[in-house]
Amino acid sequence: MQNLPHVDETRGKSILHRIWYSIFRSTPLPATALDRSQAVANNFFLHIHSAKVGERTLRFKTTLGLGLMTFFTFIILVVTGILLMFYYVPTPEQAYDRMLDLRSAVFFGSFLRNLHRWSAHAMVLLALLHMMRVFLTGSHKAPREFNWVLGVVLLLLTLFMSFTGYLLPWDQLAYWAIVVGTAIAGYAPFVGDEVRFIMLGDTQVGSEALLRFYVLHVAVLPAVLVLLIGWHFWRIRKDGGLARPREALAASAAASIPVPVPVPEPKDGDEPRNKDEPKDGDEPKDGDEDGGDGSKEKK
Ligand code: HEM
Repeated sequence: MQNLPHVDETRGKSILHRIWYSIFRSTPLPATALDRSQAVANNFFLHIHSAKVGERTLRFKTTLGLGLMTFFTFIILVVTGILLMFYYVPTPEQAYDRMLDLRSAVFFGSFLRNLHRWSAHAMVLLALLHMMRVFLTGSHKAPREFNWVLGVVLLLLTLFMSFTGYLLPWDQLAYWAIVVGTAIAGYAPFVGDEVRFIMLGDTQVGSEALLRFYVLHVAVLPAVLVLLIGWHFWRIRKDGGLARPREALAASAAASIPVPVPVPEPKDGDEPRNKDEPKDGDEPKDGDEDGGDGSKEKK
């Protein structure tokens, strides 16, 4: 049963204290270990963490903060992307001009666009570095294999977000990049032409492609990313928090093939290791499946 302060206990406290209590139902600074773990478990924002975490996993050098940095670049991209949507129109007639206007006529427009663009590059780089960190610390091993698979999907979605966003400025660089990119997809065996047609909505890059890339870029892919990032975080908790180095070593030891250690043959006159252990020449007893020499017959 949760140890909530009685309503009277918040009376007479500061207004901030009372507001906090009305929202989170826990005192701002819990005093005991139990209160602290309950404060984490009952708080909507904090309950992403387990109530208990390994001390080593809190150190910056364990994760280098790369997963969280990837997440924050995604948040920056969502916020700046929504602001960009106020100006952008996804048609071949308007897209490029709107981009030029944004750079010259809109207050902080150039900053907004560059922030979005550089955050997109940063997200790809950070997701790759995060993946390397996870692999090099052995954190992809059991029981975290499924979170690794989720991560691979997240990386592919991140790359696809970059690809779909690339066409939106509708300048020469954008146009030819997508011509080349979708032509490569067209070389896929058996389904290449169909995949290319589905991507472009036409046989060549034009207004249909611009509209499809826009919808994928601003709605479909971000929605899927939000769901999968939520799942990724939830899995971290369910897998017992972040991997501890010792756990990672144990997993790799369990995965490797055990090397047989040679046991020296006992010499004549050696004492048996225990009194029940048969000596050479002993008759096998009834019920001894192994014939008394300790080795089971292989089938
Ligand atoms: C949108 C991209 C991604 C985001 C926002 C993200 C976010 C995070 C965060 C915040 C953590 C907690 C630890 C930390 O900060 O490093 C984490 C852990 C983890 N991530 Fe990601 N991640 C992403 C992509 C990936 C990729 C590409 C992989 C691998 C293919 C991956 C696999 C994992 C695994 C296995 C863990 C658990 C690591 C451990 O227990 O130490 N993630 N992720």
